[in-house]
Amino acid sequence: MLDVIIIGSGGAGLSAALSAKDLTNKVLIISKTYPTHSQTVQAQGGINCVLDEENDSIENHINDTYNSSKYISNKNTIKTMCKNAKETIQWLDKLGVPFSKDEKGNIKQRYFGGTKNKRTCYSSDYTGLKIIHTLYDNCIKNDIKFLHEHILIDLIIEDNKYKGVKIYDLENGKIKNIYSKSLIIATGGYGNVYSKHTTNSISTTGDGLAIAYRNGIKLSNLEFIQFHPTALKGTNTLISESARAEGAYLVDKNEKRFVDELSTRDEVARAIKEKLLKDEDVYLDMRHINIDILKEKMPQEIRLIKDILNIDVSKDLIPITPAVHYTMGGILVDVSCETSIKNIYACGEVAQNNTHGANRLGGNSLLEIITFGKIAGKEAANKSKQIVENRAKEIEDDIQFIEELLTKEINKSIYEIKNELSTYMFKNTGLFRTKNDLIKMLDIIKTFEKEYKNSGIKNKDLNYNKNLLEYLEIGNIILLSKLTVISALKREESRGSHYRIDFKNSSEKYKKISTMQLINGEDKHNFEDAI
Ligand code: FUM
Repeated sequence: MLDVIIIGSGGAGLSAALSAKDLTNKVLIISKTYPTHSQTVQAQGGINCVLDEENDSIENHINDTYNSSKYISNKNTIKTMCKNAKETIQWLDKLGVPFSKDEKGNIKQRYFGGTKNKRTCYSSDYTGLKIIHTLYDNCIKNDIKFLHEHILIDLIIEDNKYKGVKIYDLENGKIKNIYSKSLIIATGGYGNVYSKHTTNSISTTGDGLAIAYRNGIKLSNLEFIQFHPTALKGTNTLISESARAEGAYLVDKNEKRFVDELSTRDEVARAIKEKLLKDEDVYLDMRHINIDILKEKMPQEIRLIKDILNIDVSKDLIPITPAVHYTMGGILVDVSCETSIKNIYACGEVAQNNTHGANRLGGNSLLEIITFGKIAGKEAANKSKQIVENRAKEIEDDIQFIEELLTKEINKSIYEIKNELSTYMFKNTGLFRTKNDLIKMLDIIKTFEKEYKNSGIKNKDLNYNKNLLEYLEIGNIILLSKLTVISALKREESRGSHYRIDFKNSSEKYKKISTMQLINGEDKHNFEDAI
């Protein structure tokens, strides 16, 4: 029997696998896609770590993270991340991540939002991409086994005890039950709830959260959706925060600056959105920055802007818009990454470990997913050693729901549902929210739920049926939309990325995390302390 199954092959999943592999050979990574498609790649600008202890301190990093969370995080968890940051960077450096370095071989650092210190290590503007490639190389070198294009469809839990996972093999349409002593869920966030307004890859569909929720596992802070201030207008292509870090301005149509470009993302995104709502365009202005510096530090951004909009950054303004970039909500875990069901762990964007609270700092996501990925791998592997037996009752490989799905009529296209849902979510549960809009949104979601239930798919084949995968993903997106809206409705205040026009201030009453749990078939919402 396997010791550790990891679902998901992004930065968190691969880090978990490498650290578990130090303790056991029986590790398997299962992923619906390939590591190089993971969302980690979109963390372009860098990874935070205090290296210059003369001008900065771990205490500063902890305080910046806590302040940006708007005080609904756990300082001990943040401490774990910040204190381990140096070790995380050294580990990545040793594995071979090509960090940008100075002539003496020291890792270079840049400014990022929400801090006054240069604290972000980078690999030009390809940081996440370089990290993922390096981790993947090392997994292969360490002979870690992968099942690519295998989709998690359910958890096998008996008497509240974890036993294994139910997996759909995309290649041949077969369902397999795979058993293990422990499980790590590292499937990423739910940015595709806003599929037409996100920088996320199409695979970020909240699968891990939805499946955990249906199995009674507690989720938390789903109302906190991070909009990245600068995506290319009309395309949602991310223009990294490193642009502003290297001195780019945000300007209005009169070429006037209107916000501190390096405030936290929630504040910058809202300032931009206010202008857009008045039909005023907003631009990123890099014209004053030396082109050689841009070429060295932001080769990707310059190329994307040229290729997509045919804009020369040294001469022209770049039209931008905020787009959903990161979801702070996730499966609630403790500092050891364990969920509300023993031996099931979660790490990376799928998890809510009380680090980011109401607003994540740029550069903290890579640090968090790698640091806690390593912790999850170690904890899960160690736990497995204590478990002698984890046999499940013989469970039939259940293909009934697939047979039913393949015989259903198409009715409304699931893709139409996905697009419409995204448009409504962006409008009613976006950067500015009101009670009326949220209530309206819940009704709209009810209609989508019914339409989805009655919808089938065109492709009736069992081999490589991507329609079937997308059907499952859209079901997960609809569930996550509903839970996000309920959570946003219940939080009658503004805090970080959650801004209520009808409750503009933060309230002491809500200085808590929110939780959602399915209990006896009912969606139960609660507020709890961030412990
Ligand atoms: O803007 C960026 O480069 C994104 C970084 C992050 O989300 O941490």
